[in-house]
Amino acid sequence: MTVEKATHPLPLTNPGPSIGVLEPRSSLSTSARQLRLNGEWQFRWVEKVLDPELSPSQRSSDPWGKILVPASYVMPAHDESLQNLEHGKPSYTNVKYPFPIDPPFPPALNPAGEYLREVSWENAPQRASLRFEGIEGAADIWWNDKFLGSTRGSRLPSEFAINGLIEKTNQLEIRVYQFSAASYLEDQDEWWAPGIIRDVLLIERPDFAIRDVRVVAGWSGAKGQIKVDVELDCQSDHEPSVEIILVEKSQIIEPGVEVEVIGVEPWNQEIPTLYTIRVSTGAASRGGETVEVRVGFRTIEIVDGVFTVNGEPISLRGVNLHEHHPKWGRHVPKEVMQKDLALMKQHNINAIRTAHYPPHPDMLDLADEWGFWVIDECDFETHGFEYASWRVNPTDDPDWEDAIVDRMKRMVIRDRNHPSVIMWSLGNEAGVGQNLTAMARAARLLDGTRPIHYEGDQECKDVDVWSRMYASQEEVEAIGQRLEPALADLELDARRRQMPFVLCEYAHAMGTGPGGLTEYQAIFDKYPRMMGGFIWEWLEHGIDVIHNGQTITAYGGDFGELVHDGNFVIDGLVSSARQPRSQLKDLAAVFTPVVIQFEANGAQVRLINRRDFKDTSDIEVLWSVETATGMKANGVLAHEPIPAQGFALLELPGAAREPFENADSVLKIDLVLKEQSEWAKADWIFATGTNKLPTATKPNWSRPASKPSANAASKVAWSMRDLLSVDETTGRVLRLGSNSISNWGLDLWRVPTDNDLRVSTTEPNEPAAAQRWELLGLANPFSRLISLTWSNNDSELEMVTRVGFASVDSSVECHWKWSVQGADLSLDLIVTPSGNWPSQWSSHWARAAISFEISGSEQDEISWFGRGPSPAYPDNGQAANWGWFSKNVADLQERTVRPQESGRRTEVSWFQQNAAFGVASLLGMGVTIRPWSPKTVAATSHDHLLTSSQKLHVALDMACSGVGTAACGPGVMKKYRLPAQVVKGRFTFFGLKEI
Ligand code: GAL
Repeated sequence: MTVEKATHPLPLTNPGPSIGVLEPRSSLSTSARQLRLNGEWQFRWVEKVLDPELSPSQRSSDPWGKILVPASYVMPAHDESLQNLEHGKPSYTNVKYPFPIDPPFPPALNPAGEYLREVSWENAPQRASLRFEGIEGAADIWWNDKFLGSTRGSRLPSEFAINGLIEKTNQLEIRVYQFSAASYLEDQDEWWAPGIIRDVLLIERPDFAIRDVRVVAGWSGAKGQIKVDVELDCQSDHEPSVEIILVEKSQIIEPGVEVEVIGVEPWNQEIPTLYTIRVSTGAASRGGETVEVRVGFRTIEIVDGVFTVNGEPISLRGVNLHEHHPKWGRHVPKEVMQKDLALMKQHNINAIRTAHYPPHPDMLDLADEWGFWVIDECDFETHGFEYASWRVNPTDDPDWEDAIVDRMKRMVIRDRNHPSVIMWSLGNEAGVGQNLTAMARAARLLDGTRPIHYEGDQECKDVDVWSRMYASQEEVEAIGQRLEPALADLELDARRRQMPFVLCEYAHAMGTGPGGLTEYQAIFDKYPRMMGGFIWEWLEHGIDVIHNGQTITAYGGDFGELVHDGNFVIDGLVSSARQPRSQLKDLAAVFTPVVIQFEANGAQVRLINRRDFKDTSDIEVLWSVETATGMKANGVLAHEPIPAQGFALLELPGAAREPFENADSVLKIDLVLKEQSEWAKADWIFATGTNKLPTATKPNWSRPASKPSANAASKVAWSMRDLLSVDETTGRVLRLGSNSISNWGLDLWRVPTDNDLRVSTTEPNEPAAAQRWELLGLANPFSRLISLTWSNNDSELEMVTRVGFASVDSSVECHWKWSVQGADLSLDLIVTPSGNWPSQWSSHWARAAISFEISGSEQDEISWFGRGPSPAYPDNGQAANWGWFSKNVADLQERTVRPQESGRRTEVSWFQQNAAFGVASLLGMGVTIRPWSPKTVAATSHDHLLTSSQKLHVALDMACSGVGTAACGPGVMKKYRLPAQVVKGRFTFFGLKEI
């Protein structure tokens, strides 16, 4: 059933469709015999192929090395098996094409990887198909020297018939060019990583083979409806009888006829009930084939601008998922993919956008089984044409229609049986044009049951749902209220106003951040039109490189690329090794399906069930009361199941309402999943809330008692001079007790985060935050002592300093007031802006902190009371709860691949170093303790290059700017910005020993 006989490789100027291939079909689980051709292949790399018509072995007798399939062949992980053979290098660009915009020509320098392997099959069948689940780049394929065809469409399957061609031993050869005309259609923000990236299968085609099965399973009137279409591919004209059965109900289904199914459960993301459709043309021994398709009953409808499944509005708390592995490039081993999805489930993520191409088919099987809402996106992006003002964009060129529409068809046909897929996406960032209309038309013909998504056309001509990326909270709120600005075309405007709204990308998880998640979620929860959104993105695309025997993480530019986008590819909730970043914990707190709220009366907890289908009978509510010395009381809060979208007020027991023995106490509520699942153990805690129990008799903080050492016995009152030493010419602190202190001073700067470094979409006319700090010179404060006065018998010291910055007249006046409190030192600090702070900027400072250095090491233990254990800035840190925590300095660090400000703890009442020196603050302070100086961190490009300074660099902040998400999108929200302002702090230094 070949579409077209292929005799010569498709010219590289041809963007597709593929040639020599079979009609596309779904991924079926079959009883037919299969050989999986993954594993070790022979490989060599060619800088330039001079005889593209010749198969690799005919073309040259150059030596072969060994490589693992599937994988991207440019990955450094192959260095070992390929020994000294070149195999190209990964290269990273976001929007730009790394070659001239000269369609349909690929760059003249266009290397290729050549693959060869022997295939032997005992009792080989007469008919078989060779299926590639994905080859990235443009491939030409030979079987026993016979040319089979050429592929285009990297993340889509291609299948070739090899009927009557299977010998005892066979030779399979494949040449994969890095670039072709099709590269113009695959300009996604990721590594260019060619190779055989997914499984290679040889599938027997029996005499009565089943070519494809298409199932449409709907749900209405509390019943299932199902229609199964079967296409056969028989050896002879004799048509076998076809049996279709809904296995769990033993219900026979007639082909091509919609029938009702009684007594089944519907499918939804929260309760993903699946059934099996078995289609058979008879026993294998008689040339029959049996295939199985897992189906879920569900119907999607858009009702009054609200996206519903089985009649219920749904909410997407999603992530964008690329396929990347630090060793294998675009190939993600199955167990790693399972780990990805398990981590997502554990962290309350319920939706995936397969950015920006159809995923490995196994991923959709798992999404059906474990429950995810999926937007399946076509392998189509032409973003780089933006640099040519979208001239000659293939999206609007009829010559490219076939190649583009072919991709859409192949995706829809492969994936339309999956209940998890609730929308088709035409692609990403491909501009606008007639080929999008053609894609949408083709998709609707192949599957009329799913709405269409595409963000690139804001007029929404071809889509059913309005999608944006990186819109600010303000804009999204206006859309929720249906108050968006009108489109020029009023008809289109009226249509768009009736559409549900989704943020297909938001909250760019790059480096420290993103800020503002809570505010987005509140808007999603509030307005029925809001479907929710997808964080950009699940995973960092770091690449493992062995450097001096150590594995380090590389990013764009590390492979000598001429054109690249640096660390913009490191922007995930998990590292490329799938280590959760702290932002994943924050996201889990924001995405929690059941919200915990403490009522002001102190006697009740409100639980809000945000699920759309499921009640809370699978959840246990645990409470405990903790104090500085551990857990004092705990129990289970019995509750009646709360229906989907409902809430309940639960009464707290007496012991959970009062502080324990009148000491500082924290009430903690944990929500746990009672049952073990495939993705989490039993008692998995998916949400935690804490509340400080109020006490009238004590301050709401406490700290370990500090004992003066030498003078303890003598009971002589401490004097200031016993405890504090300052340079009386500058006002700098030199010693606190016996601790020598260096680089003491007021600090308005931080090491720029990835978010601080970019101009935000919400303040497009202002420099990036980091550039403002740079223009103001904040990294290098100049302090001038204005006055220094000892008073009260030398038990008080007041100083006034003016802190200014090179070549600007912006400054602050600092009023430092030191006093002795028993064995401790208290410092009241008031910072008042002076001079001139540019009024055209909405913010000026990164923080207002005291920073200093103290001796210490990465092994030092830091204990604290405040929020923790995870870090927090004013607009993130949703996972940081009240409690007593302890970590060594090394573990306090949030290691970002590109070093930057990170690891701040918030609302800290006190902290202590090695149970000795400590600082307390009644008002609560932000604390950052790092083993590197900020200047060192700022000057270091990669994490592995940071080496500990044998000092601890401490910043205690009284005010701090949020982090926002300006690396791509909105900056810090207004309420979290830090313009020059009066800031006050009160600190108590304790655990001091006499100087
Ligand atoms: C979007 C794009 C993504 C990614 C992101 C920034 O515009 O769709 O692929 O590039 O920006 O990381």
